[in-house]
Amino acid sequence: MRKKGILITGAAGEIGEALVHELARQDGQQLITLDLKPLPESFPRSVTHVQGDLLDQDLLARLVSEYEIDTIFHLAALLSTRAEFTPEAAHRVNVEGTLNLLKLASDQSQWRGEPVLFMFPSSIAAYGMPDLETKARIPMVREWEWNYPRTMYGCTKLYCELLGTYYSEYFRQLAADAPVMLDFRCVRFPGLVSAFTVPSGGTSDFGPEMLHAAARGEPYACFVREDSCIPFMVMPDAIKALLELSRAPAEKLTRRVYNVTSFSLTAGQFRNMVLRYFPDAQITFEPDIKRNGIIDSWPSNMSDKAAREDWGWKPDYDLERAFTEYLVPNIRKRYQV
Ligand code: SER
Repeated sequence: MRKKGILITGAAGEIGEALVHELARQDGQQLITLDLKPLPESFPRSVTHVQGDLLDQDLLARLVSEYEIDTIFHLAALLSTRAEFTPEAAHRVNVEGTLNLLKLASDQSQWRGEPVLFMFPSSIAAYGMPDLETKARIPMVREWEWNYPRTMYGCTKLYCELLGTYYSEYFRQLAADAPVMLDFRCVRFPGLVSAFTVPSGGTSDFGPEMLHAAARGEPYACFVREDSCIPFMVMPDAIKALLELSRAPAEKLTRRVYNVTSFSLTAGQFRNMVLRYFPDAQITFEPDIKRNGIIDSWPSNMSDKAAREDWGWKPDYDLERAFTEYLVPNIRKRYQV
């Protein structure tokens, strides 16, 4: 018979790396990872890695023939800056890749007679504020407000939120027999900052890039203006959000898509925090009009009230703790400052 397992796509990416380590530590279940890249050496040996493309239907069929997948963390995606260079390719990966997996999870739910849990990270990029004046006037947005993304990445994330909801609630609504639906759950993340990895291809990357450059003793030219403001969260809280939502009792959930966030600050305030710990850091501002435009379209803050009320969400790290207890000590160790 097939072995039971949890599938994690995009496992070699930033969230993937942190999630796989945490799941390997906590959970006894077999982890199956899928990524275009090989896994770094540092990954737990207990993981079964499949190197391949999410768009390869044969590969997905082979996976399902070997494993009974009861949970999927679908992390693979092209991020916001990179996606703007190749929007149609980003659409293929972000939308068709997600659709392939939703279909797989949907079929597997039928086979098992029990819903497959489908965890999906969405993003602040699902929002689009029309101008800086509106962004200043409405600093806090709820899940269903201002859903007018300005990037291909944001469009694909918002659309996949809807697709996940469709497969969980409305799929085959005209069929005679009631299908067993999958259980789609999604968190909308702010910009994420890890002490152990540096992101690539995103637009919130200016925060983590600034910090890691300072720790390496390298100068950094920030690609957004000092007054550019978005929310952030550190990686341990992102993993906590994904795992807590995945374990929340279904009857507690009033939505399928939840904002989660931790602290908001401008790029100038981010620099000041970095300078507090790395006083010699050379950080300048050389805004890139296009990338700044993306950040300007993202809200300054997101309301995570629904997540707090429904499943008790609360970040462990506010701004102070994030720097003093997680980012700075680990980054110092990493670069041996
Ligand atoms: N960090 C992502 C990006 O910048 C947003 O979700 O693209």
